[in-house]
Amino acid sequence: MTVSTQIPYLLRATRGEVLERPPVWMMRQAGRYMKAYRELRDKYPSFRDRSEIPEVAIEISLQPWKAFQPDGVILFSDIVTPLPGLGIEMDIAEGKGPIIDSPIRSQAQVDRLRPLEPAESLPFIKEILQELRQEVGDKAAVLGFVGAPWTLAAYAVEGKGSKTYSNIKGMAFSDPVMLHQLLGKLADAIAVYVRYQIDCGAQVVQMFDSWAGQLSPQDYETFALPYQQRVFQQVRQTHPDTPLILLVSGSAGLLERMAKSGADIVTVDWTVDMAEARVRLGKDIKVQGNLDPGVLFGSKEFIRDRIYDTVRKAGNRGHILNLGHGVLPNTPEENVAFFFETAKQLKVRG
Ligand code: CP3
Repeated sequence: MTVSTQIPYLLRATRGEVLERPPVWMMRQAGRYMKAYRELRDKYPSFRDRSEIPEVAIEISLQPWKAFQPDGVILFSDIVTPLPGLGIEMDIAEGKGPIIDSPIRSQAQVDRLRPLEPAESLPFIKEILQELRQEVGDKAAVLGFVGAPWTLAAYAVEGKGSKTYSNIKGMAFSDPVMLHQLLGKLADAIAVYVRYQIDCGAQVVQMFDSWAGQLSPQDYETFALPYQQRVFQQVRQTHPDTPLILLVSGSAGLLERMAKSGADIVTVDWTVDMAEARVRLGKDIKVQGNLDPGVLFGSKEFIRDRIYDTVRKAGNRGHILNLGHGVLPNTPEENVAFFFETAKQLKVRG
């Protein structure tokens, strides 16, 4: 077994050290597939309560840590959590995701947005992150996360999740000046929020641009990439040593462009072969991923083979083992446990 001393094992991968096994965690590792989570959900039916009452959010964040000892413990929250602090009221509906009360469709609404004051509007984040650091010590890294400007703008403009993104694309392709103002305000708020998470204890921060994969490459370069860069640049000015991860869902056509975002680590999804992703991203970019979350519905042998295959293709440095996106509801907990055990026993690299 690898004994971690002083610095959490996951951070050693972010520094590019040669390691005998990659650190491992899972996106959405806290949540619906866990019985313990579902029980707590019955007690606290509102997602905002579960994520904004510090004791509850702490307990949920720690459920997978207690069950599986991953190398990373992610804050239990949501990407839309900071929006009320900007003046965008929202709720998170069971089975549906974020719902925005008054979707942003006019210049007046963009003008009314407030700068984010996280100590005032997000005080619970401080309590949660501080307590998580306390609990896991140097045995795991505590990860914070935020949504990226394009993806948060998609929720703010559509008012909810979307299959077509017709409202925000309508705005992008008919009134780009207004959308750029919205994206700029969101980028500045998100940068402030990332800095706040780091100051409160987050050791790594992942930015989710989940819906940027819905853009053509040229539109990604106009509406997503510059704002990812703006967030990462602002954070680097004050916090140059915190590793930053970028995720875009369905990013196979965008990998080279993601490498220009300023992220240290790019999450690779399962639509790309990991060895090919390495070549396409170049040696300066570290990788996270990239098993299909559906693999966890497979047999143990299959799960093990896919872990070996991914680890071999990623090589022995600068790789964080993960799924290519969040763990799915109904995933057998037993298979999640097996995934972590197998990953932590690996000694395939010298
Ligand atoms: O990884 C973790 O353990 C932290 C948990 C986490 C949540 N949301 C909790 C949550 C994370 C990292 C997020 C980020 C998030 N939220 C993203 C980016 C990640 C991605 O999937 O690309 C996005 C797009 C959202 C918006 C959102 N919130 C969606 C699409 C949903 C799911 C809707 C549904 O029910 O299928 C939510 C709600 C939500 N956020 C749930 C969880 C665990 C599910 C609802 C619940 O458990 O009650």
